[in-house]
Amino acid sequence: MLEIKKTLDGSLTLYNSKLNEHYHSTFGAYTESMHVFIKNGFQFITKNKIHVLEVGFGTGLNAILTCETAILKNTLVNYTALELYPLDLKLISNLNYAGVINPTLIDTFSKMHECAWNQNVMIHTDFYLQKINADLNKYRFTDFYDLVYFDAFGPDIQPEMWSSENFKKIYDSLNPNGILVTYSSKGSVKQNLRDAGFKVIRLAGPPGKRHILRAEKNE
Ligand SMILES: C[S@@+](CC[C@H](N)C(=O)[O-])C[C@H]1O[C@@H](n2cnc3c(N)ncnc32)[C@H](O)[C@@H]1O
Repeated sequence: MLEIKKTLDGSLTLYNSKLNEHYHSTFGAYTESMHVFIKNGFQFITKNKIHVLEVGFGTGLNAILTCETAILKNTLVNYTALELYPLDLKLISNLNYAGVINPTLIDTFSKMHECAWNQNVMIHTDFYLQKINADLNKYRFTDFYDLVYFDAFGPDIQPEMWSSENFKKIYDSLNPNGILVTYSSKGSVKQNLRDAGFKVIRLAGPPGKRHILRAEKNE
């Protein structure tokens, strides 16, 4: 059901043949992750201690790129990642993110995958990870976040994930001036984000995508 595929920037992604959906853009997994989540999300926050929530941990590419950037910026990150279908460790070891991440972080990437679920674990002195094996549609947040990486499968494939109810739950668990970034700029996604209370901003997308969204909690 899951196959490894090469994307146009040379980095690998996974293809779910049952859903006919890739885990990243086929125009470049690394390029998309850097553009949507790091440049327009993580780099946008000016705090030196950031609590990140990721919806859809998947391969951990966003997490390791965040860790890499946090070390460079000397920022402390608490990273919480929701994932309903954790990936097999053998499959992860065949994704050559060694080619796109700093070689000194290869062991850190393995640690992210090997560490226990549902516990807060120190992965690096600048990066604490809590992977939560749960369904966003049922999950009740108890923490507060500064930044949300909304990286679910597409709104045509899993529309329930992109509902105004889920966005409202996320909105309520954001700190003042918190933001959500996502790769989809579909009209229904924008509307559901606005219905949840967000101010929605359209930004230029990575290769293969005209726009992405940043949604802000302005209070
Ligand atoms: C687009 S992929 C995520 C890519 C991931 N961020 C990465 O860098 O590899 C979507 C992810 O959402 C997860 N997912 C699907 N349904 C979910 C649900 N109801 N709750 C939480 N995660 C879910 C999938 O298993 C998959 O890992």
